[in-house]
Amino acid sequence: MIKNEFYTLNNGVNIPKIGFGTWQITNKKVAKEAVKYALNAGFTHIDTAAAYGNESYIGEALKETKTDRKSIFITSKLRAEKKGYDVAVEEFNKTIKNLGTEYLDLYLIHAPSPWPEMRDRKIDHTEENIASFKAMIDLYKAGKIKAIGVSNFNEKDIDALISATGFIPQVNQIFLSPFNPQKDLKNYCEKKGILVEAYSPLETGKIFKKEKMEELKTKYNKTIAQISLRWCLDYNTLPLPKSTHKEYIENDIDLDFTLEKDDFESFL
Ligand SMILES: NC(=O)c1ccc[n+]([C@@H]2O[C@H](COP(=O)([O-])OP(=O)(O)OC[C@H]3O[C@@H](n4cnc5c(N)ncnc54)[C@H](OP(=O)(O)O)[C@@H]3O)[C@@H](O)[C@H]2O)c1
Repeated sequence: MIKNEFYTLNNGVNIPKIGFGTWQITNKKVAKEAVKYALNAGFTHIDTAAAYGNESYIGEALKETKTDRKSIFITSKLRAEKKGYDVAVEEFNKTIKNLGTEYLDLYLIHAPSPWPEMRDRKIDHTEENIASFKAMIDLYKAGKIKAIGVSNFNEKDIDALISATGFIPQVNQIFLSPFNPQKDLKNYCEKKGILVEAYSPLETGKIFKKEKMEELKTKYNKTIAQISLRWCLDYNTLPLPKSTHKEYIENDIDLDFTLEKDDFESFL
């Protein structure tokens, strides 16, 4: 069952194969409720970020549900605009305080450049990213983070970190869906032993309008969300669906079915 399945990262750490996304869940009540629905549905992996502004709500939900810290995998991210060694340590400490935890399972650099610069990337932030990554490596060595990685990084960005530190990130979290399989970057990561996490696996809702998904939904008698998430898993990536509705959340982890090879390959 998907609820009990894990990928093993390149440092031997096990990570639940599916995670609950929390971007744009900014209302305290809604966030706490959604996390509780997710835990009840069987999610054991929660994806957040300092930038989402909901770390403390997630922390409260975990506390109120008396969730055993060891039974849950928590990912958070260093803000895209916060870079450098000391800044990274400071931000990390704020994050674990907000979440009410002593350690993170996974900590990612949210993006190689601050968001307003992500389109043209004219300003080079390589040295600052290396400094942030060095801080994360030290926190990792100190046992404060179980795995470290990046998000929205391309091949060149990752190569720069590896050649400066000799440390291969455990994860790259990128936008990935059946209609956006990111073949080159995914192959690059796979060759390096970096797990690819699929963010926006439902294209932030846009996937529900795709005609091809309607056909597959009818053929398999599954929802479009289930088809897309199953596809991401079959592609050896880790999907991070987000929802605030109980029935959707339950649906998003009900993925024990198979896609035929031809249907899987039709997106590649
Ligand atoms: N690292 C990054 O830069 C980055 C960027 C984007 C996202 N992420 C991560 O990836 C997660 C997911 O991406 P996303 O937030 O863009 O959204 P998504 O999971 O691609 O799509 C969410 C949308 O799908 C709906 N939905 C979910 N399950 C459904 C179901 N079974 N049936 C019908 N509708 C369903 C949700 O509805 P309701 O919410 O109304 O229930 C919401 O409108 C984020 O929350 C975040 O954790 C990371």
